[in-house]
Amino acid sequence: MADAGFVKVAQVSEIKPGEMIGVEVSNEQVMISNINGTIHAIDDICSHAYACLSDGELRGEEVECPLHGGAFNAITGQPLVPPVNERVRVFQVQIEGDDILIGPPQD
Ligand code: FES
Repeated sequence: MADAGFVKVAQVSEIKPGEMIGVEVSNEQVMISNINGTIHAIDDICSHAYACLSDGELRGEEVECPLHGGAFNAITGQPLVPPVNERVRVFQVQIEGDDILIGPPQD
């Protein structure tokens, strides 16, 4: 049984290592990535302007925004490459069997 506030959004088997998808959960756009076999979730909307990070490129832990080429750490949400200079939020993740559940932002 999922913890309160956690919503099933996808299956682990849908997202191979090095891949990401964008989902909507509780009116939030969330980018789910598989980095070396571990599922991570951050805001899908770039903190610079309006673009979906899940439409960009994932290279290791770094996700590049498709609009202006800024980049974030897809695990911590920290900005890595200008023009982004504000972090994006990190969402809590639970795995139950093959189910990916997303909870509230960590802070
Ligand atoms: S919208 Fe993402 S870098 Fe500008």
